[in-house]
Amino acid sequence: MPLIKTGVIGHPIAHSKSPLIHNYWIERHGLSGTYEAIDIDPEELKNGINQLIETGFNGFNVTIPHKRSVMELCDTLDETARAVGAVNTVTIREKKLHGTNTDVFGFIENIRQSAPDFDFTKGSACIIGAGGAARAVLYGLLKENVPEIRITNRTQEKSEGLKDMVNANLKVIPWQEREGALSGASLLVNTTSLGMTGKPSLELDIAALPKDALVCDIVYAPLYTNLLKQAQQQGNQIVTGIGMLLHQARPAFEEWFGVRPEVTPELEALALK
Ligand code: ATR
Repeated sequence: MPLIKTGVIGHPIAHSKSPLIHNYWIERHGLSGTYEAIDIDPEELKNGINQLIETGFNGFNVTIPHKRSVMELCDTLDETARAVGAVNTVTIREKKLHGTNTDVFGFIENIRQSAPDFDFTKGSACIIGAGGAARAVLYGLLKENVPEIRITNRTQEKSEGLKDMVNANLKVIPWQEREGALSGASLLVNTTSLGMTGKPSLELDIAALPKDALVCDIVYAPLYTNLLKQAQQQGNQIVTGIGMLLHQARPAFEEWFGVRPEVTPELEALALK
């Protein structure tokens, strides 16, 4: 079996969990492959990627700050990458780059696995934030036929900017009125970095959220953010952020290695170390 060469590009890249995840699966499935962390300066993106092509890479993941800029270097983009406006996975075939975005799958699959009874079509969803992660979450929720989506972001123009993806059922809520936006919602998702270790906390009182609503955070360090703790205290079901990171890696691995890997408790524990 030929050696399959993969990796993740970013800048900085030292703290990426992706090598740990993919190398765990390479070993578990007894595959002949490598997955390396590759630091590429934004100025050197084109050269860096050309080098990967020339050295026989089969594909790579893309992280901050290259998720948008890599799009113009791709020969083809699938519908998800185009809609989200970001690529996190590239497959190389015959020296051509094919871009996709598996964060959408990661977000939805994490909810499916962690809260299997949750019905996306039941009611409104409320998204906090309007950055790159919010676009992936929004696209996933639209695909799952969520009937109404409310979005609130500190910079309101960025929420308005998401209307290119959805026109009809997106309601933009001013940041100051975010707590009111929770009433009657079935799902609340934090897509901002607020609550992450070293970042300010998310100032959000969720008393208005119905007790049967599901609360998700994409932050996974700490695993139990203040938002999730608050939700647990008032009896809401919660989904932590680590699953999105682990599940987004699965379609990429399958694309390159031809094996769909599983998220095991052992892998989750490794990723949280
Ligand atoms: P990502 O691609 O990971 O989503 P991003 O595009 O930088 O990262 O988006 C970060 C999100 O966190 C944005 O919604 C941002 O709000 P702004 O659009 O107003 O910048 C939000 N965010 C970051 N720091 C924040 C803060 N102190 N208060 C409120 N929102 C914040």
